[in-house]
Amino acid sequence: MTSDSRSAETPSRVTALRAHGFRNLQSLEFEPGSHFNVIHGDNGAGKSNLLEAIYYLGALKSFRGAKTDDLIALDSEAALLEATLEGGPAPHKLRIDIGRSQRRRLQLDGKRPRSTSVWHRTVRMVLFHPGDLILASGAPDKRRAFLDRMLEQMDPIYGSTLASYEKALRSRNRLLKEERTDRRSVRAYDAILSKAGAVVGQARRRLIDDLAPRVVRAFSDVFAGDTPLGVRYLPRVEPTEDAIAEALERSFDKDRARGFTADGPHGDDLELRLHQVGARHHGSQGQHRTIVLALKTAELDLLSERTGRVPILLLDDVSSELDRSRNRRFFEVLSHAGGQVFLTTTHPEFILLENDRVDFQVEGGRVTR
Ligand SMILES: Nc1ncnc2c1ncn2[C@@H]1O[C@H](COP(=O)(O)OP(=O)(O)OP(=O)(O)O)[C@@H](O)[C@H]1O
Ligand SMILES: [Mg+2]
Repeated sequence: MTSDSRSAETPSRVTALRAHGFRNLQSLEFEPGSHFNVIHGDNGAGKSNLLEAIYYLGALKSFRGAKTDDLIALDSEAALLEATLEGGPAPHKLRIDIGRSQRRRLQLDGKRPRSTSVWHRTVRMVLFHPGDLILASGAPDKRRAFLDRMLEQMDPIYGSTLASYEKALRSRNRLLKEERTDRRSVRAYDAILSKAGAVVGQARRRLIDDLAPRVVRAFSDVFAGDTPLGVRYLPRVEPTEDAIAEALERSFDKDRARGFTADGPHGDDLELRLHQVGARHHGSQGQHRTIVLALKTAELDLLSERTGRVPILLLDDVSSELDRSRNRRFFEVLSHAGGQVFLTTTHPEFILLENDRVDFQVEGGRVTR
């Protein structure tokens, strides 16, 4: 993170939040601080629910994969989330009404937004939650999803290109599963797969070129050992139209035998190596956690630079498993980033931050300062 680039970026901040009928949160009127908001309480108190409410206001979905019905308080028919967002040229008012049976109404500054992509470009958030450890320890699809979500937040056409790639891939795979696969109709999908696939793969490569040095730096800043992290794009096929088209042609017989398409950007990975071996199977739990935190710190840094705004950072239960000195260094790195942070913990004394912090207690869904 360079200090000169940082000075050009203004942090996005939630300055007021209201929630009614959301999970176990008692009617909530919440005025967060502009830097670190430490949300503490016992297990089951409602800390993650509060973070989920904030995340929903940005991502329009739950980070726990919950359906809208699960978000509404058991004794309520609807939920309401409202927030004021500052940090841009003018403040924004966000309002989401959630009703049963997947009903939802969005309002941005009192009006229905033209598209959800307008919403996503208004409210940017970076989240870390315990399930994210799978980014370091899990299969490549998790890392692809991480890259894709970042690209969707930065590039207005990436999402639709990826969607058309995936649609063509599903159709091709359906044909490959048929008993008598007609080669000509399978080939009809190869052109779109190679064209859209090259766009997707090249966008991922450019992203990783930009992201990798930031991940490496954040990892060494926090981990501070002599273990270097290696980060690079690992494509299944070189992301050019010709290379993808050739691979599809070459593996047609094998694809037909397998019943699915093996080659293409749907096999890409973001390679993470410690001591020259894959971190996935060799890293310790603490190392996995540090790698994921480094990925998220790098995401925050890159989104800040590319958009001119520091996104809001949400950290659910981040400190467990990081030792004291790594905890301290992690918060130093975040202080430097300068954005608004919401973090939950059962042990506020483990959050080694002296300045710029406001503590909130959650007890039975009630949030107090
Ligand atoms: N739709 C809902 N209506 C009412 N209560 C709910 C709803 N969904 C979840 N809860 C309750 O919310 C509580 C869990 O809250 P949450 O996950 O925020 O806890 P937490 O404070 O993060 O705990 P931990 O420290 O264990 O992570 C549970 O008691 C659960 O029963
Ligand atoms: Mg929790």
